[in-house]
Amino acid sequence: MSTSTGEGFSSSFGAIMAAAGSAVGLGNIWRFPYICGKYGGGAFLLVYICFVFLIGMILMMSEFVIGRRTGEDSVKAYPKLIPHRPGWKFVGVAGLVTCFLILAIYLVISGWTTNYFWESLTGTLAGIADGDFGLHFSEFASSALRPVIFIGLFLILTTLVIIGGVEKGIERVSKLLMPILVVLLLVLCVRSLTLDGASKGVAYLFQPDFTKLTGEGILAALGQALFSLSVGMGVMIVYGSYLPKDDNILKTSVWITVCDFAIAVLSGIAIFPAVFACGQDPTGGPGLVYQVLPMVFNSLGAVGRVFSIVFFLLLALAALTSAISLLEALTQWLSSEKVGRTASAILMSAAVVLLAVAASFSFGDGIWSGFKLGGMQLFELLDKLTGTILPPVCALMTIIFFGWFMRKEDIVDELSNHGTVKVGYFNVFYYFLVRFVAPIALLVVLISGLFN
Ligand code: PHE
Repeated sequence: MSTSTGEGFSSSFGAIMAAAGSAVGLGNIWRFPYICGKYGGGAFLLVYICFVFLIGMILMMSEFVIGRRTGEDSVKAYPKLIPHRPGWKFVGVAGLVTCFLILAIYLVISGWTTNYFWESLTGTLAGIADGDFGLHFSEFASSALRPVIFIGLFLILTTLVIIGGVEKGIERVSKLLMPILVVLLLVLCVRSLTLDGASKGVAYLFQPDFTKLTGEGILAALGQALFSLSVGMGVMIVYGSYLPKDDNILKTSVWITVCDFAIAVLSGIAIFPAVFACGQDPTGGPGLVYQVLPMVFNSLGAVGRVFSIVFFLLLALAALTSAISLLEALTQWLSSEKVGRTASAILMSAAVVLLAVAASFSFGDGIWSGFKLGGMQLFELLDKLTGTILPPVCALMTIIFFGWFMRKEDIVDELSNHGTVKVGYFNVFYYFLVRFVAPIALLVVLISGLFN
């Protein structure tokens, strides 16, 4: 319990569940499978593994070190470490703004997911004819009221957990939901793999096709690695400030990274074999989850209905623990400005819901779809900013700070728990990955991303 507010996770296990809860989200279950298939299956997977472990995990460790060392929120942490350069505060601010924008778009998609969970439960989806799922989705997502109701419900749930506190809210909920999530996912995998014709889906996901692994695919792999591990925007600094003092940061980071990676791959195994077995096309984006999968579920009869309920519940739970971490980052910052936790959580939720509702109104043929910024609807703009631009920018600044400005002795002291844990590996990491590989890779991605 080292933070300025005295809050923290009670155990390493609790910390791992909470941080894995942040990492495992829509990015794993919705985004990873289709970009993996799109950019060459096994070929993409190889590049992705390298980015996840060599860059994503290094960033996670850096953020944990910064957070636990200072016990501060992500804005105050930087200047506390190097007081003679207060300008570094800016990195924390940029991270918080990114969290705010991600949370807004996350709420829209989580609202859709919660609605689909509800429609699976009540049988509405089961009553829709195959050819009508596209229309059903676009009518729903473009309507004014219904998405907003589900955004609201989802946000209320998220806010209540935050008000509950770090240990009694976030940690407790994550310890409960993460194991449930894994069980649900395994059930789906078994069902999907045992369908006739499932092997085509497995091949789509894993067979390496290097011709599809374009430059764009490599960029997508890095962007996805950062997004999926929730690194770059300070969320892991916040969770780092709640880590127990005797927690082994390397071990914890390895666990979270492995867990995040495994759940992404399992999600692909749950989705594609079923899609192929039912003779559907593996399209990406909202189409896959809200149009193709409901068709797949319907073609499986009564079992499909259960399958559908389980899938949308899984997606909603995964989104919930991620949304919690985003709202916590915003709340921790505001409450360190002498506003109570409850008031901070409510104020931040109120602010972010305005943007989420505006984004929802701008989607598809929504009532604000005619309003454009830089030629894009608000939803598209947020998607682009949070998906490709801001996370690598923030990640780059964080790693430069960690590798070139933070004192190496401080890092080693924190990683080794004041000399009680062996950290001999770190010298190799430090000069090779932290100072050179990670910043250069991020810079290359960013520059090529901006010019695309
Ligand atoms: N990692 C989450 C996912 O994969 C998204 C996220 C990004 C959550 C950044 C928190 C911070 O869906």
